[in-house]
Amino acid sequence: MVKVDLSGAAEFFTSAGPNYALARAAHEMLADGSGLGADFTGWLRLPQRVKETELDRIIQAAEKIRSRSKALVVIGIGGSYLGARGAIELLKPIPGEGDPRIFFVGNMLSTDTLCDTLTLLGDMDFDVNVISKSGTTLEPAVSFRIFRELLEKKYGDQADEHIFATTDAHKGVLKTLANSHKWETFVVPDDVGGRYSVLSAVGLLPMAVAGIDVRRVIDAAIGEFAALDLRSAENPAWKYAAARQHLYGKGYDIEILGCYEPSFRFMAEWWKQLYGESEGKDGKGIFPASVEYTADLHSMGQFIQSGPRTLMETVVRFRHSRNTYRFPVEEENADGLNYIAGRDIAEVSHVAADAVKDAHVAGGVPNMIIEVPMRNEEGFAALVCFFEMACAISGYMSGVNPFDQPGVEAYKKNMFRMLGKPGAV
Ligand code: PA5
Repeated sequence: MVKVDLSGAAEFFTSAGPNYALARAAHEMLADGSGLGADFTGWLRLPQRVKETELDRIIQAAEKIRSRSKALVVIGIGGSYLGARGAIELLKPIPGEGDPRIFFVGNMLSTDTLCDTLTLLGDMDFDVNVISKSGTTLEPAVSFRIFRELLEKKYGDQADEHIFATTDAHKGVLKTLANSHKWETFVVPDDVGGRYSVLSAVGLLPMAVAGIDVRRVIDAAIGEFAALDLRSAENPAWKYAAARQHLYGKGYDIEILGCYEPSFRFMAEWWKQLYGESEGKDGKGIFPASVEYTADLHSMGQFIQSGPRTLMETVVRFRHSRNTYRFPVEEENADGLNYIAGRDIAEVSHVAADAVKDAHVAGGVPNMIIEVPMRNEEGFAALVCFFEMACAISGYMSGVNPFDQPGVEAYKKNMFRMLGKPGAV
C-alpha cells in the first residue's frame, strides 16, 4: 500500500481533526453497496474478475500486435484514454527495443494533430485499439473512421484483423460494428464507469502492447484492494479522503497534485478526471489541478507560495529511483556546485521536496504526501487502487454520487444540435 503522510497538513486541522467516523461510514456504504451509484462499484472487484476472464486473451492479443506491428493506434477519450496513457508514460516513457510506438488519438478534434499523427505513422505496420464504452462518443468515432479507412487501404481484406474493439458487452454502435466485422472485442464491464476502468482491457491492452507486465499489475492490484479494505484510520485511503474533506470544509477548495517525476504527468491527468468528475457536482467539489516539480516551482511557485490561501497540495513521492546518477566532482568547481558533488541526483530531489514542503506549509498551504516505493508495475497498481478507493470514500463523505457524470452531457447536446446531428434538439 502507499503511505500517506499528513504531517504537513496537521497544523491546518481543527482540534477535532479529520472525520474518520464519516470515512468509516462512507467505506461501509461502498462495501455493502448501499451508497449512491452502487451499480457502478464493480471496479472494487475488477482485477480479480479480469484475471479470471480476459487477462490471458489481452496478453495474447498484445503479443500478436507486438510481433507484427511497429505501432498501435489507441483511440479513446476521458476514462477510455487517460489511464492507459498515464501508465505507459509512467512506466515506459521510452519504448524499449521491439516495443511498438503507441499513438493516442480520438482524444481531440484537431485536424492538425490528426495529420501530424498520420505523418508520424507513415508506412509503419500498425494495429488499432478503439476504446469506447458507449460506442457513440464523437471524438473517438471521428478518428476511428479515419484510421479504419487507412487500414482498409493498407491491408485490404485483412484490415478487420488489425482492429481490436474495447466496448460494452452487449450494446452500442461500436459493439454492432464489431459483431458484423468480427473484430476481436474486449469488455468494459457494465458496473464500471470510464474513469474507474483502467484495470480492465481499457487500460491493460495498450499497456501490454507497450511492454508493461500487466499480469504483475493485476496481481498487485488484487492484493492492494484487499489491503485497502482495512476499516481503521490507518487505512491510507481514509487518511487522504478524510484530510482533504476536512480541509475543504475549512475553505481549501483547490487541490494541486504534484510529483517530482515528469513521467507522472499523465497519471496526474488521470487523477484530475477521477476526482473532478466524481466530486464536482451538486454545487460541491474540490477543484483538481496538477503541477510538475521542480519545473513548475519556477512558474507556479510564486502563486502557490503566496497567492490566495485556498490551495491544498498533495505530492506523490517515489521512495526509490530506477537509476543512480552521482553528480560529478569537478576540481576547479568553477560552477560552484561541488557542495552536491558525489550525491545521487535523486537525493538532491528528495532534499528539494522536503524544502518545498516546509516552505509551502509555512506559506499557508496544507501538504499531504503519498509515498510509493517505486515507479514500477506494483507502484502503479498501488496508486490506482489507492486513488480510486479514496475518491469513492471522499465522494460519499461529501454526500455526492461519485460514479455518475450528468454534467458532461450539457455541451454534447449543444454540439450535436449545432452540428446538425439527426434527432438532436
Ligand atoms: O469517465 C467517463 O465516463 C468518461 O470520461 C468517458 O470515459 C468518456 O466520456 C468516454 O466515453 P466512452 O468510453 O463511452 O467513449
